[in-house]
Amino acid sequence: MNDINKAKFISNEDIIMEPNDILKTTSVPVKIPLSSEDKHLLKLLYNHVSNSQDEEYCKKYNIRSAVGIAAIQIGINKRLLAVKTKLDDENIFKYALANPVYLYKSKQMCYLNPTEGCLSVDDTRYQGLVPRHYHIQVEGFNLLTNKKEIIDVKGFNAIVLQHEMDHLDGILYIDRINKLDFNYKKDDWIAV
Ligand code: NI
Repeated sequence: MNDINKAKFISNEDIIMEPNDILKTTSVPVKIPLSSEDKHLLKLLYNHVSNSQDEEYCKKYNIRSAVGIAAIQIGINKRLLAVKTKLDDENIFKYALANPVYLYKSKQMCYLNPTEGCLSVDDTRYQGLVPRHYHIQVEGFNLLTNKKEIIDVKGFNAIVLQHEMDHLDGILYIDRINKLDFNYKKDDWIAV
């Protein structure tokens, strides 16, 4: 992406695909209150995720459906991410987050059955079980509400948030798959 301030949307070509060392970058915290540039970037990320859940939009602009994205996936090493999931009509989980940090990670582990996906990964090449904490608490600045929030979340949404927070530390879900046994799991891990 050449000039983030002029960009109106994220296109398929803007997404960095692995293998690429940029995706292994540890992103840096942004200043709060957010600069206008960072706000714009975070809105672009959130709108991309939200738009990608519209089938027509995906077809028209040739983009893949997603529940989350991090700034590093368009080559910007800032601790910014967006998530949006809809488990049912009443429960929409949506955040445009700056500088998220973990306050709590449960010992109880879980995994998305059968595996995860990522805009930066050709999913057809990678299958495997990705261990995640079942319950997490995260604190960060949410642009959608314009305040610092504590997010307490379990299960699917917790997996989505961990996946995106991993991107901020240069970690892809495929890095978490057991290399010796792609489907390795402990008996008490919860399938989500
Ligand atoms: Ni991803």
